[in-house]
Amino acid sequence: MSDRVQIFEVVARDGFQNEARFVETADKIALIDALSRTGVAKIEATAFVSPRAVPNMRDAAQVLAGVTRAPGVVYSALAPNLRGAANAVAAAAHEVNVVLSASESHNWSNVRMTCADSLADLTRIVDACSLTGTPVNISIATAFGCPFEGPVAPSRVLDFVKRCAQAGAAGVTLADTIGVANPVQVERLVAAAMQILGPVPLTLHFHDTRGLGLANVYAAWRAGARRFDASLGGIGGCPFAPGATGNICTEDTVHMFAEMGVETGVDLEMVIDLARTLPQLLGHDTFGRLTKVRSRAQAECRTAAAQ
Ligand code: COA
Ligand code: ZN
Repeated sequence: MSDRVQIFEVVARDGFQNEARFVETADKIALIDALSRTGVAKIEATAFVSPRAVPNMRDAAQVLAGVTRAPGVVYSALAPNLRGAANAVAAAAHEVNVVLSASESHNWSNVRMTCADSLADLTRIVDACSLTGTPVNISIATAFGCPFEGPVAPSRVLDFVKRCAQAGAAGVTLADTIGVANPVQVERLVAAAMQILGPVPLTLHFHDTRGLGLANVYAAWRAGARRFDASLGGIGGCPFAPGATGNICTEDTVHMFAEMGVETGVDLEMVIDLARTLPQLLGHDTFGRLTKVRSRAQAECRTAAAQ
C-alpha cells in the first residue's frame, strides 16, 4: 500500500450542488482547470442528475466537454442511476461515481429508489460502463448515520460494501453525508470495510458539520485509508439531507497531512489561492480555516520583513 495520500476534489459537484445561485458554466470550467494544476488526483467535475432536482448540475455535459483534461488527473462524474451513468460515459467521464444510501429513507429522498432497486442497478451500471472501459466507483451515502433514521448499523453498511465489490466496483466510498461520524466509529468501519474490499480501493467522504471532519480523516488514515474526498473552501452538502453542511476543506486537509509529513502531491499555496477566489464566485464566505489564518500570518511576515 502506498503511503501517499490522494485528495479527490469534489467542490465542482458536492460544493456547487448545494449553492442556491447558479455557478456559470465557464466559471466551473475555469475552476476545474485551475484545480487540475494543483496536484489533486481526481476531480469530481459534475453530476448527471435531474436538472429539476439539482439545478446547479444542469450543465454537466458542457462542463465535462469544456474542461482541459490534465494528464494524470481522473475526471469523475456522479450518477444516481443507469441513465445518469450512460450520460456520464457519453460525456467521456473517466469514472462514474454511482451513489446510493445505506439508509432506506435517505436513498428515497436522494435518488427516489428503494435500496434494493439501487443495489440491483449496480451490476447493470457496471456492465454498461464496462462497454467503454469506464470504471465505476460506488459511494455509499449515510454510511455513518442518516438524517431521517439516525444510526445506521455497521453490519448493514458492510453488507453494502460487499455487494458493491461483488457488482464489480472499481472503488468504494463511505460517505458521512451529514457529518455525524466520530473517530472511533470511523476507525472500526474503515478497518472492517478494507478487509472486505481487499485490493478494491476505499475512499472516505466526510462532512465537517459537527467539527469532526479532520479528526475523522485522521482516524481513517490511522486505520489505513489513503484516499479522501475534500472540497475547496469546505463548501458543499446534500440538498436532500436536512441540515447538511460543508465537506472537509481541501486546503485544511492538505495542510494537516503536510504538517504530519504525509505526501499528498497537492500544492498547498495553490489551493489556498484558489479557495480565496470562492467568496467572489459564490457571493458568500467559505468555511476553510487556513485561508483566514494564512492571510493573517502572511501579513505578519510582511510587517516583520519591512522592519
Ligand atoms: N439525469 C437527468 N435526468 C434524469 C436522470 C438523470 N440521471 N434520471 C431521470 N431523469 C429525469 C427523468 O427523465 C424525468 O424527466 P422528465 O420529467 O422530463 O421526464 C425526471 O428526471 C424525473 O425522473 P423520475 O424517474 O420520475 O425520477 P424522480 O423524479 O424520482 O428523480 C432522480 C430521480 C434520481 C433523477 C432524481 O432524484 C435526481 O436527480 N437525484 C439526484 C440526487 C443528487 O444529486 N443528490 C446529491 C448528490 S448525492
Ligand atoms: Zn457529500
